[in-house]
Amino acid sequence: MDAPWWQRAVIYQIYPRSFADASGDGIGDLAGIQQHLDHLTWLGVDGLWLSPIYPSPMADFGYDVANYTDVDPLFGTLTDADDLVAAAHRRNLKVLLDWVPNHTSNRHPWFMASRGSRTNPYRDWYLWRDEPNNWRQAFAPTPAWTLDERTGQYYLHLFLPEQPDLNWNNPAVRRAMHDVLRFWLDRDVDGFRADVVHLIGKDPALPDDQPVRSDSRVSFHEDPHTHRWLREIRAVLDGYDGDRAMVGEVNLRDPMAIAPYAGPDQLHMAFDFRLLDAAFDATAFRTAITATDHAARTHGTWPTVVLGNHDQARVLTRYDGREDRARVAAVVLLTVRGTPFLFAGDELGLADAVVPPERRVDPGGRDGCRAPIPWNGRRDHGWNGDDPWLPWPPEPDVRNVAAQRRDPDSMAALYRRLLRRRRDDPALQLGDLDVVGSSPDVLSYERTLGDERRRVVANFSDQAQQVAGAHGWSVLVATRRDHEDRVFDGTIGPCSAVVLGVP
Ligand code: GLC
Repeated sequence: MDAPWWQRAVIYQIYPRSFADASGDGIGDLAGIQQHLDHLTWLGVDGLWLSPIYPSPMADFGYDVANYTDVDPLFGTLTDADDLVAAAHRRNLKVLLDWVPNHTSNRHPWFMASRGSRTNPYRDWYLWRDEPNNWRQAFAPTPAWTLDERTGQYYLHLFLPEQPDLNWNNPAVRRAMHDVLRFWLDRDVDGFRADVVHLIGKDPALPDDQPVRSDSRVSFHEDPHTHRWLREIRAVLDGYDGDRAMVGEVNLRDPMAIAPYAGPDQLHMAFDFRLLDAAFDATAFRTAITATDHAARTHGTWPTVVLGNHDQARVLTRYDGREDRARVAAVVLLTVRGTPFLFAGDELGLADAVVPPERRVDPGGRDGCRAPIPWNGRRDHGWNGDDPWLPWPPEPDVRNVAAQRRDPDSMAALYRRLLRRRRDDPALQLGDLDVVGSSPDVLSYERTLGDERRRVVANFSDQAQQVAGAHGWSVLVATRRDHEDRVFDGTIGPCSAVVLGVP
C-alpha cells in the first residue's frame, strides 16, 4: 500500500492553552503536552496538530502572531518545541503546527514598521488604503478596516483590528512566509495546518462587494491568486524529504468549492466541515458524506472529516448533551472515507463549559469548547496549581481521562476500539465508499478495498431498526461494547452504530 501517511492518519488537535499544564500557572504548555503523549498513544491516533504556540499578545489566543519563529513564554521555549517534536516522533506521532498566513498580530515588527510611515519599506507588506471598501470582518458586523491616525490611512483586517491582513501580492511577504515554513520544517515538523488559507489571495484592487454583503468575508472570499500562492507553498514543502503535508482551512463550507484548493500541487488536504455542520440526522449525514465524496472524486482530492475544533460548540453540546449520539457520530468520523481530525476532549464526550460573563475572554464567543481537559477526578483534575484560565467542562469527575481509561465502556474506550480497528484495516483507511440505501433513520455505507469489505450501520433514531443486507456479518466495533464480537442479526438498537465485517 503506497498511500502517503496523511491519507491513513488520524490527527488529534491540541489547543495548547487547555490541554495540560506542567508549569502550574493555569495555562497549558508544551511540557504539559509532552507529559501526556501517552494518552495519544493509548488512544491510537497517528499525529497531533498544535494550535498556535508562537509569541502573541493573545487578542485571538495565538491566531495573532507576533513572531513566527519562536514560542510564547506561556507555552515554553523553542527547546521545548524541539523536545516535543522529538518525543512525538519517538512514539511514531506526526506533528503539525498551525501556520497563520493571512494576518499577523498588530504587534508583529512587520506591522509596527508598516504603520510607521507611508514610505516605510514594510508599508506594502499590509493593505493600506485612503478609502475602505465595503468588506466586513469576522466576529463583529463592522467594517474590515481601521483608520490608523498616524498616517491617515485605513488597513484591512478580515478578523480583529489586532490582526492586520498581510499583502501576499508583495513577493517579499511570500518569501518571508515561506521562510517561516522552512524554519519549522528544518526543525523536523511533519507539516502544517494553514489557518484561513483561502484568504491569502486578493485582487490588488480590493473591489467592493456587489451587492453589499452583511456576512463576514471569511465565509465566501475566493480569489484566483490564492491558487498561485498555494503552488509556491507546496513547492517549499516538496523541497523536503519525508512527505511533509499541509491541511488548509478553506472556510467555504461547500465541498465542491473547497476541493479545488487541494491536489498534487496545492494543499495536501483541505478541511471539510460538512459533518460538523450537519444536524444529528441520518439524511443530513448521508447528504454531507455523499457531497464530500463526490467533490473528492470529481477533483481527485483526498477528503478530511471533522466533528469539532476550537471554533465550534463541542459535539456533545450540539447534540443536546446526548452521549449516545456523540458515539454514533464518532463511529462515522472514524470510518468514513477521508482523514479524520479529532478535537482533544471529544474522545471524553466533553460538553462546552458554562462560562460566566465575567470569565469570558474570546472575542469570537468560543470559550466553551476551549475549557481545560480534566486529567483525573481529583480537585485540580491534574492541573496542579491555580485554577485554569477557563472553567472546567461539565462533569469533570467522570468526564476525565483517568476515569475513562479505567472504564472499558467509556466514550474514550470506544474511540480507542475504533482507532485500533481503523489502524489494522486498510479498507477503513483507504477503501472506496458506497452509501447503501436512503432510510430516514439509518445511515449505511460500505468501504471496500480489493476483497476487503466493511459495512457501517448507524441508527440515528430512538427506536430499534431492521437493516437489510448485512445479516450474518460480524460486529467488529459497536457503540455498545457488549454488542461486539457477535454476529449481526439485522437489528440495530436505538441510537447506536456498528462496524461490520464479512464473516
Ligand atoms: C481560524 C481559526 C480561528 C481564528 C481565525 C483567525 O478560523 O481557526 O480560531 O480565530 O482563523 O486566525
